[in-house]
Amino acid sequence: MKRTCLAVILAAGESTRMKSSKSKVLHPVGGRPMIAHVVDALGRAQIDSVALVVGRDAAAVEEAASAGALAVSSYTQTERLGTGHAVLAAREAIARGYDDVLVVFGDTPLITEGPLVAARQALAEGNDVVVIGFRTDDPTGYGRLIVRDGALVAIREQRDASEEERRITYCNGGLMAINGAKALALLDQIGNANAKGEYYLTDLVEIVVANSGKAIAVEAPETELTGCNTRAELASIERIWQQRRRHELMISGVSMIAPETVFLSYDTKIGQDVLIEPNVVFGPGVTVESGAIIHAFSHLEGAYISTGATVGPYARLRPGANLGAGSKVGNFCEVKKAEIGAGAKVNHLTYIGDAFVGEKTNIGAGTITCNYDGVNKHVTRIGANAFIGSNSSLVAPVSIGDGALVASGSVVTEDVPDDAVAFGRARQENKPGRAKVLRDRYQAEKAAKKAKTGGH
Ligand code: UD1
Ligand code: CA
Repeated sequence: MKRTCLAVILAAGESTRMKSSKSKVLHPVGGRPMIAHVVDALGRAQIDSVALVVGRDAAAVEEAASAGALAVSSYTQTERLGTGHAVLAAREAIARGYDDVLVVFGDTPLITEGPLVAARQALAEGNDVVVIGFRTDDPTGYGRLIVRDGALVAIREQRDASEEERRITYCNGGLMAINGAKALALLDQIGNANAKGEYYLTDLVEIVVANSGKAIAVEAPETELTGCNTRAELASIERIWQQRRRHELMISGVSMIAPETVFLSYDTKIGQDVLIEPNVVFGPGVTVESGAIIHAFSHLEGAYISTGATVGPYARLRPGANLGAGSKVGNFCEVKKAEIGAGAKVNHLTYIGDAFVGEKTNIGAGTITCNYDGVNKHVTRIGANAFIGSNSSLVAPVSIGDGALVASGSVVTEDVPDDAVAFGRARQENKPGRAKVLRDRYQAEKAAKKAKTGGH
């Protein structure tokens, strides 16, 4: 039978070292709050519900943690008396009775389901407390795992550790799984007789051993347990997250010429045989279908790119940009909330916003959809197989029919019927010989000026 599991996320910290107006768990990694990554890993570890322990920014932290499918209930820790005390803020949830209680931190966004599943497995095998440990070259600041004859007997915090214990490089990652039936009885035994005067969750190990129970450590990679306390740590967590995500995409069939220069978001979806050139940024909400090419220096967000389309170099796709199969959006073009039909081309120096562009239509260089009158936004509709001459301004709301042609340099303020040509500019007039007359006059003026000033 499937074991039930409650996860308790500790996120009541002050985030002092982040020097921020908001809680550190709200700072983004891969474009979403780090706490949402933790909840995501919990979901993959098949847990049933989440008890969130909050302090500052409670409402915002709760919202960020609730973005996924998991049910989240929130508990406030009013005084910050340590990790053991924080877990007990969720006493009511633990008392509902679960087979497993998993304690995780809100500031470890690189955690994956692997160690969480392994910890739950160790509970299923009869352990009462399972600690997720890691080995590191620099254990300073971490709780050290004291192992005797293969059994975990205690966790010693840095401040309470002896010289000898401080040399131990096997550390507490902070995440812990507890036998749900015994959890409250064990947690209630935690005292605060230590260097910091705090209720340490880590004391559970010695408590379990004293109660003739079984404690064990499960080893996980150090990167998965990296905590975020400062902006510098946030940046290195982002770097690891990006590397991980790029690697997954390349393994799934995406080509990147210089992967270290490509930046992804948590929800970036990229199909097989897509080529991504150097220096491309994917904001949230981008899907790229198979075989598309994203040329260098492009910035995409909230955009859908269909199969075989090409983007950039130097293109900006904003939310609602929807590129049809085989379409092209080229250099120095911006597309916002607009459909570009299959095979249509928007190749140079153009803004297309709040618009529909039909299949195989060609938009000339420098075309602007004038979508904003200073108060409201309006829509431009362009049919299929149309041709918009360079440097045209399409003043919305306006429609241009199928197969229509707009003469270059036009300011189009009225609808253009199918197959019509629209001229929206002054007619050209040639004056034969007039250029020479003007040139002679200008040269005479220049000579007269020079004579008057003596050449100075
Ligand atoms: C903790 C562990 C340590 C481990 C390390 C791993 C304890 C006593 N120590 O130390 O063994 O090596 O994590 O990173 O558990 N929090 C609350 N309320 C509190 C105190 C903390 O919500 O009263 C939250 C914090 O916001 C944070 C987490 O608990 O998310 C950990 O607290 P922190 O003070 O950072 O623990 P460490 O000293 O790093
Ligand atoms: Ca910490």
